[in-house]
Amino acid sequence: MTDLTPPREILDPIEVASRDEIAALQLERMQRSLAHAYQNSPFYRARFDAAGVHPSDLKSLADLGKFPFTTKQDLRDTYPFGMFAVPRERIARLHASSGTTGKPTVVGYTEGDLKVWSEVVARSIRASGGRRGDICHVAYGYGLFTGGLGAHYGAETLGCTVVPVSGGMTERQVTLITDFKPRIIMVTPSYLLSILDEFRRQGRDPRESSLEIGIFGAEPWTNAMRAEIEEAFGMHAVDIYGLSEIIGPGVANECVETKDGLHIWEDHFYPEIIDPETGAVLPDGELGELVFTTLTKEGLPIVRYRTRDLTRLLPGTARSMRRMEKVTGRSDDMIILRGVNVFPTQIEEQILKCEGLAPHFQIELTRAGRMDNMTVHAEALPEAATEDGQAASRAALAHHIKSVVGISAEVQVHRPGGVARSEGKAKRVVDNREG
Ligand code: DLL
Repeated sequence: MTDLTPPREILDPIEVASRDEIAALQLERMQRSLAHAYQNSPFYRARFDAAGVHPSDLKSLADLGKFPFTTKQDLRDTYPFGMFAVPRERIARLHASSGTTGKPTVVGYTEGDLKVWSEVVARSIRASGGRRGDICHVAYGYGLFTGGLGAHYGAETLGCTVVPVSGGMTERQVTLITDFKPRIIMVTPSYLLSILDEFRRQGRDPRESSLEIGIFGAEPWTNAMRAEIEEAFGMHAVDIYGLSEIIGPGVANECVETKDGLHIWEDHFYPEIIDPETGAVLPDGELGELVFTTLTKEGLPIVRYRTRDLTRLLPGTARSMRRMEKVTGRSDDMIILRGVNVFPTQIEEQILKCEGLAPHFQIELTRAGRMDNMTVHAEALPEAATEDGQAASRAALAHHIKSVVGISAEVQVHRPGGVARSEGKAKRVVDNREG
């Protein structure tokens, strides 16, 4: 694969600024943002007052630790527009994330917010190796989900020719990739695997496709999956992270030249890592829950949002801004099976080690009496879809899960196509436990 390191002069100066310059900008912006939240959002005014803090208490970045957290529940409690800090008329766009239970959480953007969002996504695509003039195929879902439109306006801002395909109609995805010859694809990693299957079904070699860069996010995926995708398509696979409450995709992105974790665009989003049990701020390098404070958002400024994503903060490499390690799980995705903590990504890694298995999978939880059981539904590759082949894969996967993850799981290996396909975010865990 070609070296896509960007020349320094095409980067935003702040991407390579000194740490002191970045910290000075952050402090100034954080003071302004806290004051804006306090003055214009009755929610934050009440929150800060109840906690006995005032924006003027923030004298240094470390003082942020004195301020209260914001959670998804706060957005639900103020549904739909109760946390906005500008009159509704100034909100130019709404998005919402569905969540698995209850009402969606609604987020709103002013024109200025949309501009910042487009700029951070453009920066993310550039970090991934994309350039002005590239054709960019966007297969994230369009609509209330932030993936499609977020990627779209970022790619336009960078100067790409954007193909707004959205998710679904997988056969047509392959036709359009073949005919329009995009250099970049932006899609969830699980849906890319469905597209990969469709290439093969049509007898097309994915390595012959025009794709050179895939920008994957919206769900956890492993470095083992990166290797699988890069090999299958002969393209760079880069990680993009974000969440609706903070802005959408483009909060952090890997640099294609290092692929060593995601650089957080710290001039707009201030990260902290906390102990999820106590809420205490942890030093860089330690594993914990990621928390973000927005530094420039107008419509919905957010103070110390608990993402539930588990990661650690690392020093900058390709850029001066700090990195976050690839997110391998959310605290609420964690399965506790007979006392052992398990993340779906750990199962993914073990599946990708088994030669006869396709990368599609789903985890089913059931309960018999007091006993929780996990069944891993995996799928045979066409060339290994014989009775013997499937039995061998089943035994191999059960063994890997037992010896590496440390749990006994039942494994079922289905025929090719037997595991539900994703068209967006994959549903990795089906919980059939009662009660
Ligand atoms: O998923 C925004 C997005 C769209 C990001 C497209 C990247 C690409 P939400 O629907 O609000 O927003 O979901 C946010 O998804 O808290 C993580 O748990 C998870 N997530 C997002 N990106 C990644 C990633 C969009 N690269 C939630 N790795 C977040 C792991 C991710 N998890």
